[in-house]
Parts: sequence; C-alpha cells; structure tokens
Amino acid sequence: MFIDSHTHIQMSQFDKDRRAVIRRAQEAGVEKILAIGIDYETSLAAAELADEYDNVYATAGIHPHNAESATRAELDDIHNLAQQPKVLAFGEMGLDYYRNHSTPKAQKKVFVEQLEMAEALGMPIVIHNREAYQDILPILEALDNSAFGVMHCFTGNVELMHRCLAVGNLYIGIGGIVTYPKAADVHAVAREVPADRLLIETDCPWLAPQPWRGKRNEPAYVRAVAEKIAELRDTSVEELGKITSQNFDNLFAPEK
Ligand code: NI
Repeated sequence: MFIDSHTHIQMSQFDKDRRAVIRRAQEAGVEKILAIGIDYETSLAAAELADEYDNVYATAGIHPHNAESATRAELDDIHNLAQQPKVLAFGEMGLDYYRNHSTPKAQKKVFVEQLEMAEALGMPIVIHNREAYQDILPILEALDNSAFGVMHCFTGNVELMHRCLAVGNLYIGIGGIVTYPKAADVHAVAREVPADRLLIETDCPWLAPQPWRGKRNEPAYVRAVAEKIAELRDTSVEELGKITSQNFDNLFAPEK
C-alpha cells in the first residue's frame, strides 16, 4: 500500500477523467491521495474533492508563484478552509527563485503569514522550495525548531537534506525525479534520508516518473517512485510503502 503525499488532482488537467484516475490509483494500491492547493480556488476544489472521495484529503495554501496577487481576504479564506476536517495542512507555500513569478519580497511575506497561521492552528506545512534555500532555511530556523511539515519534491543534495532535517520536525518528499537516470543528488538523498523522515509523491500532473516521463503524471505512478527508492535503499517495495504510509499518518494525522 502507498500514499501519494503530493498531487494536484483537483486541477483542470484531470477534468475529463478524474474518477478513472482515482480508480486506477486504488487499483495500484494507493490508499490515500493528498490534493494540494496553490491558491484559494484550487484549495477549495481540493477540499470539495476530499468531501466527495473517502481516500482523498486536501491542503489549503498559496504557492509562491501566486504570492504577488494574494490579498488579505484570500489569506483569511485559506485560514477558514484549513479548519475543515479533511484539510490536513497548509501549503503548498514557500519560495521559488527559479521562476520568480512573484517578487522575493511578496513571496516571503505570504510564506511567513501562512507559517504563522499554521503554527496558530497547530497544523503541518507543505513547503515548495526552488533555488531559495538561502532564504527558506533562516526563516524556518527562526521558528525555534517548531517547523513541522514536508520539504516537497526535494532535489537538493545530502548536505542540504541534513540542514533541512536540523531546522525542525521536517520530512523529505521524493517524487518522480528519483527515477531519472541522471538525478544523482536525488538518488543519494533517497539512500541517505532516515526511514522515519521519508515521504513519496507524484506532484501530478507534472514530473511523471519513468517510463511515463514527459506525459501527464497521476497518483497510480507513485508506485514507480516507491519501487525506485526501494531499489536504492536495498529494501522491498512493500516495506517502503509501509514506512512511508506510516510517516504520512504521523505527519498529517488524517484520522484526526
Ligand atoms: Ni505541487
């Protein structure tokens, strides 16, 4: 059994066949799917999907790409949505200095506001980081080890992984990139990450694992991620599924 800890199945890429996609995930042994919001609209859609399907859960948050356009009212809406029972975390939130769709200043402001809301409600966070360790790590360090969440789609090296693990109660989310032959850093992280810190994800519809690379990704393919990590760690895919599902439940407490 597997859990896909990071998907965007509420988004339009799945409008034509969402029911079939969710069924294929179940048939592939994916017992839970977390639908991640990137603004209020997609967070609400994730929560509605969670209402419709027993095995789907949601998060509420504003992605750094959307920080510039985020208003006080939108943050308040996210805060209210986060209190629904199947909304398990804030995010995805963070910093993205690769695409820079929003200014670093706007990104930091919206990130810190969401961190404060999550802390006030005692909820975990889903962190998006791209080329922004230099600012993300100090922000998390300033929380005095209270950071509680996942560094999703981790693509840094082993040293950065250890620095992330040192700033609080953080998990490392590994996705389809681990199946790419040239992803040496992610292979090393997949080998080295402590067993009780590892989560698996697809980040679908993007970043499909081999052999679907370049096509639309979907939660059923998380099994390919688990198989590759199991091979790298010299363990069985069953054991890998078991520990990552346990980690998911420890972090997100879906039965709260
Ligand atoms: Ni994502």
